[in-house]
Amino acid sequence: MKRMIVANWKMNTTLSEALLLANGVKEGVADLSHIEVVLCPPFPWLVSVAEAVEAYHIPFLRLGAQNLFWKEEGAFTGEVSATMLRGLADYVILGHSERRRIFHESDTELAAKLALAVAAGLRPILCVGELKAPSSQLLADPGDLTERQIAPILHQLTAAIKDLPKTVVEKLIIAYEPVWAISTTKNPKVATGFYANQVARYLRKELAKKVGDAASDMLILYGGSVNPENAAEFIHQSELQGVLVGGASLKVKSFVSICQQAAGN
Ligand code: PGA
Repeated sequence: MKRMIVANWKMNTTLSEALLLANGVKEGVADLSHIEVVLCPPFPWLVSVAEAVEAYHIPFLRLGAQNLFWKEEGAFTGEVSATMLRGLADYVILGHSERRRIFHESDTELAAKLALAVAAGLRPILCVGELKAPSSQLLADPGDLTERQIAPILHQLTAAIKDLPKTVVEKLIIAYEPVWAISTTKNPKVATGFYANQVARYLRKELAKKVGDAASDMLILYGGSVNPENAAEFIHQSELQGVLVGGASLKVKSFVSICQQAAGN
């Protein structure tokens, strides 16, 4: 099964740094297979990075946006709509913990964004993840993890998808991103592949309530301090189909190494 590796550059890079990064990744992944690589630069660089990436004709190298607005168009100074991204990006990250925390994005807004993204032909990467870290014991041995213990994560998922039609939910890619493991969080803890896999199992069960058997084909990614040293642990879990990478996606060498590991090279 194809693995997906998403690079979330967040609000980093100058234009020339973005182009250097995109070109470096292009060269580094050109000969790989069985992967889908998604670069998510800041909005102003999307056009230039798209041009740089397209020039190489690597079908599995795609672009994603980091956000969009929850209304179709209108007097919303500074915002970017789903239709504006059509043709520029194939994916869009939505519901990232930084958007939820810093910009107080609500579940209602998020649901509207998901629907607009799919209507515009974009595949949303919906991020969910809890604030509080589980015990070290549970991280090391999550066999007994219960649905109750991860209720906040499941709640985020259901709140986002409850009013969406099955046809929209089927298009989502889910990124399980525990906030306590994101590299920019104060004193981040390290997650384990086993733990992320167990959470993904429950997320898929929740998705199945909405979309039935189609849930087994939906992609679930892990994100949170993924780097070349720990990537394999997450990429090769049965319930996970890839990773969402923040900090380590800003360096060609580390990001390409993660892509190589996902491709099995
Ligand atoms: P990180 O970021 O890989 O730097 O932890 C991941 C994310 O926030 O998407």
